Amino acid sequence: MTKLEELIQEINRFEAIVAEWDESQRCVVVGLKRAIEALHKVALMRLIKSLKKEETISALRQAVDDEVVYGVLLYHELIKSPKPPLSQRIQTAIDEVRPSLKSHNGDVELVAIKLPDTVEVRFIGTCSHCPSSTLTLSQGVEQAIKKYCPEITKVIAVDKKPLVHSANSLTSPFSQNRNPPWVKLTTVDQVPESAVLVVNFAGNSLILHRQGVKISCYKNACAHLAFPLDDGTVENGILTCPSHGFQYNLDTGECLTAPDVSLQSYPVKIKGDKVFVQLLLKI
Ligand code: FES
Repeated sequence: MTKLEELIQEINRFEAIVAEWDESQRCVVVGLKRAIEALHKVALMRLIKSLKKEETISALRQAVDDEVVYGVLLYHELIKSPKPPLSQRIQTAIDEVRPSLKSHNGDVELVAIKLPDTVEVRFIGTCSHCPSSTLTLSQGVEQAIKKYCPEITKVIAVDKKPLVHSANSLTSPFSQNRNPPWVKLTTVDQVPESAVLVVNFAGNSLILHRQGVKISCYKNACAHLAFPLDDGTVENGILTCPSHGFQYNLDTGECLTAPDVSLQSYPVKIKGDKVFVQLLLKI
C-alpha cells in the first residue's frame, strides 16, 4: 500500500465513524474539518507563491510529482485539473455513441488523428454500407468528438485500418509527460452488483458498480441536475436517480431517459483484488 493510499484509508475510516453520528455532532466535525482545511489552503497558497520564482520553480515542479503533494494540491484546487489527452477524449466520444451504432449492428473506430484539427474514423459492420452513414457521422460521431475535443473541426470517414497514436498527456501545469494517476479506491469484493459503492477521493465523489468481473466507475453526479446518484436504486444493471428518476445503464454510463447525455466515466483496472481508477478530471 502506498503512503497516499494509507493516508486516505485513515481518512475514510474516520469518515465512516462520523457518518454514524447524529447530525449536530456531524456538523461540528464538518466545521472543524473546513476550518483546518482553510488554514492549510492559505499556508499552501503562500508556499506556492514563494516557490514560484525562477530559482525555485523547479523544486515546486519536483514536489508536485509526488502523488501525495499532487493529490492535496488538487483537492485544494491549487493546481489545474488534468486534461485527458486528445486520443483519450476522442475515445470517450466514440464510446458515447457506440451503443447507438451497435444497436444498428454497426460500430466506429478511430483511424488517425491529424493535428491540429482533423480526426479520421472508420465505420464497421452495417454502418459501413449504410447509405445514411454520412448522416450518422455528422449527427452522432462528429458531434460527440467535437463536444469532447473542441480543437477538432473536421471528422472524416475513411476506409482504412487504424494507425497507432501516441498520447500527449497533460496532467499538471508542472509536468508535460505524466499520465493521470491510477488510484487504488477499493477492493473487488467491496463493489456491489445490486447497488453502487460511493467513494470519495481528493474532492472527487465517485460511484462504482460491478457486473460479474467487470467494474465501472462514474462521477457521482446525475447528468440531469448533477445531484448525487449513490442513493439511487439499481435493478438489472440500471441505476435510477433518486431525485427525478433519470435512468442509466451502469455498463456503459448511457442515459436511458435522455440518450444524448451520459455519465462521466473513468477508466478502471483490476489488479488481483484491488480496484484502480484513473482520475482524469476534477469533479
Ligand atoms: S438530478 Fe437526477 S434526475 Fe434530476
